[in-house]
Amino acid sequence: MPRTSQAQGKLRRDLKARFMDGGEIHTGELPGLETLAGMAGHASCRAFANRPVDQRLIQLLCAVALSAPSKSDLQQRDIVIVSDTFQRQKIDDLVGSQAWIGGAPALLVFCGNHARQRLLHDLRGRPFANNHMDAFFNATVDAAIALGALVTAAEAVGLGTCPISAIRNEAQAVSDLLALPDRVFPVAGLALGWPAAATDISMRLPLAATVHTDMFDEESQGASIEAYDRARTAEQPYGTQRSEADFGTSEDYGWSEDKARQYAKPERANFGAFVRAKGFKLD
Ligand SMILES: Cc1cc2nc3c(=O)[nH]c(=O)nc-3n(C[C@H](O)[C@H](O)[C@H](O)COP(=O)(O)O)c2cc1C
Repeated sequence: MPRTSQAQGKLRRDLKARFMDGGEIHTGELPGLETLAGMAGHASCRAFANRPVDQRLIQLLCAVALSAPSKSDLQQRDIVIVSDTFQRQKIDDLVGSQAWIGGAPALLVFCGNHARQRLLHDLRGRPFANNHMDAFFNATVDAAIALGALVTAAEAVGLGTCPISAIRNEAQAVSDLLALPDRVFPVAGLALGWPAAATDISMRLPLAATVHTDMFDEESQGASIEAYDRARTAEQPYGTQRSEADFGTSEDYGWSEDKARQYAKPERANFGAFVRAKGFKLD
């Protein structure tokens, strides 16, 4: 079978597996179908082969990821490659509740970096007239875009990845460990390695609920979530129920119950204080 048809077949299959309404998407005869098929087949990986990732490959992936768009060309994101065994162990200890992270051969930390912009103002003797929420937001968005690009690049060469927001549970400790200066903050870690096994596609909310045309459609959200819960539970039921000791066992445990349970408990309540202490105004 020609490569284009193969890619188109895979793209169709993956979108159908991903979205309840994914079977309706027209894929067409397009250039770049292999890239699209790779992206549509994305799956986070949390089990890695005992095989190192070449540092030159990591450098290449960082270069590709940092080629992604950046707000106003400000380039307010940096990547810290954690290669030192001692540093790595400290971070693994900080995110100890997720044991799989210790098994990842490589770890990167994506940071928002607004410090460089302030340096430009010092260097050029210009006032900084935008000390408000936008400064933090722009750096966060840049870091998140780079993270997404690195995931795509890594998966294209066969690596497995998983972002780690858990490093922000201990934002100050991670910041101290990585010597992040004022106005530089961790957004997420990224575990990287050669997958130990194939990973499954995780279902997403239906496109009808998340892709809007002309105007946001709020009315159908409730019904879409219910339908998604049912479809996802039928295809990919949760193996365990979150915080059973607090919330008991639900008959119809699905995505909405899992996410509602997750945020029924405080998480990272001190993150705002950490960001303010880093020198950001969040008003
Ligand atoms: C910013 C960000 C932070 C994440 N943090 C974690 C984490 O701390 N631990 C984890 O196991 N997965 C983490 N993930 C992975 C998500 O759980 C995963 O993307 C989601 O369940 C969808 O699955 P998929 O990526 O396989 O499609 C994170 C993802 C993102 C984008």
